[in-house]
Amino acid sequence: MNTTNAINTINPTDQKNGVPMKALITGITGQDGSYLAEFLLSKGYEVHGLIRRASTFNTGRIDHIYTDPHIAGTKLFLHYGDLSDSGQLINLIYNIQPDEVYHVGAQSHVKVSFDMPEYTGDITGIGTTRLLEAIRRSGIKTKFYQASSSELFGASPPPQSETTYFYPRSPYAAAKIYAYWMVTNYREGYNMFACNGILFNHESPRRGETFVTRKITRAIANILAGHQKKLYLGNLNAKRDWGFAPEYVEMMWLMLQQEKPDDYVVGTGESHSIREFVENAFNYAGIEIEWVDSGISEKGVVKSFDSESTQHSTLNTQHSIKTGTVLIEIDPRYFRPTEVDFLLADITKARKQLGWQPRITFSELVKIMVDYDLKLVGLTPPGDGIKICQAKNFCYTEHAFATNERIRDAG
Ligand code: NAP
Ligand code: GDD
Repeated sequence: MNTTNAINTINPTDQKNGVPMKALITGITGQDGSYLAEFLLSKGYEVHGLIRRASTFNTGRIDHIYTDPHIAGTKLFLHYGDLSDSGQLINLIYNIQPDEVYHVGAQSHVKVSFDMPEYTGDITGIGTTRLLEAIRRSGIKTKFYQASSSELFGASPPPQSETTYFYPRSPYAAAKIYAYWMVTNYREGYNMFACNGILFNHESPRRGETFVTRKITRAIANILAGHQKKLYLGNLNAKRDWGFAPEYVEMMWLMLQQEKPDDYVVGTGESHSIREFVENAFNYAGIEIEWVDSGISEKGVVKSFDSESTQHSTLNTQHSIKTGTVLIEIDPRYFRPTEVDFLLADITKARKQLGWQPRITFSELVKIMVDYDLKLVGLTPPGDGIKICQAKNFCYTEHAFATNERIRDAG
């Protein structure tokens, strides 16, 4: 059965004689957690999410699906907690008794992990153990999904599959490796239904704004709207296998619907450099970029700008984009002490066992992200990306995103 068929036809609620399945999601306020929550709600699940207490609202990605828990029929419940707090994790597991736990919460930023290695180890690494222990100690029979990462492969040459040697290149990757092996140990030692989804980079209109793809597409929108003059980036030559996040959360769910727990690589099998992402994204917005100089002096300059294009008819007339304008510069602050140069997924196992075939290509992903960011700043997007989302059956989500996001200069 192919993935799309499996996703549409498997209904776990049937196996519980109409009683809704219960899922607990850590990281529900993040990119993946928010899409996953929407997807599971569309499947009839009762969804519980762990959220951190913050002095400002951090629920922008899920506000549109939240309803007052006092209202009958509410299916989404949020609980305060933190991956550093085992007591509350035990409490939640014991009280909710979830059928499935999706552990996607983490300090997920690779560059930040060099600044905060100990914290990253605690949350991204030990946080997983706290959750596994909460499940084991409360004696609940639940299936467990671990958000493992292609960062595990690090310096191992591409293509990377489930059997590729792990060679982590950051405190984040080291923490994820520890978590990966804890999951494997709990599966083998305690017979737990626990899976590692080794997911390659996946992006969306909801991607955190300091990850490179979103940083680029937001900058394009802000430059065109006259809110930003330049985009500062780090290493342009690293290559990533970028896919579309809503597809990847479907795979998380599908892994837990298999007869036996296993680990799977999920990616597209197509890899591109940051430089190519920049060129494609600007091009789609009507700006052709050419590169001048080299090393840290390299710059992205406007070669041509299609200002007459109908897609820019609503542009702020103050913008000053003309041939020769420097729009991109290198800032060595964004370099990492150790880099992952080349990620490319070998998806043979997921293709054979789960019928996985990615539906969104690299160039489609770029269009989707640029379209939604143009919309966010009030410009009229070209619209191909929005049409692609509609045509490819992501009907459980409108890609609503946080409107209160601000540019934080971390990444
Ligand atoms: P994300 O947008 O950064 O979301 C991370 C989530 O974890 C947020 O909800 C965040 O809450 C929560 N979190 C952080 N620290 C926490 C703590 N101490 N206690 C409780 N919750 C905490 O990440 P994502 O892109 O959705 O990725 C989801 C997972 O997949 C992560 O584990 C990531 O490492 C992994 N992964 C991601 C990719 C990718 O390309 N996206 C690829 C492979 C693996 P706040 O909203 O309060 O910050
Ligand atoms: N963030 C960022 N900001 N990255 C930049 C920049 C910049 O200004 N300039 C160049 N890059 C390069 C980074 O050096 C890296 O090689 C690449 O862009 C991708 O960086 P990110 O988008 O931050 O993602 P990542 O690959 O480090 O990590 C993401 O993917 C992993 C899966 O492979 C995160 O989502 C991780 O949580 C995830 O595990």
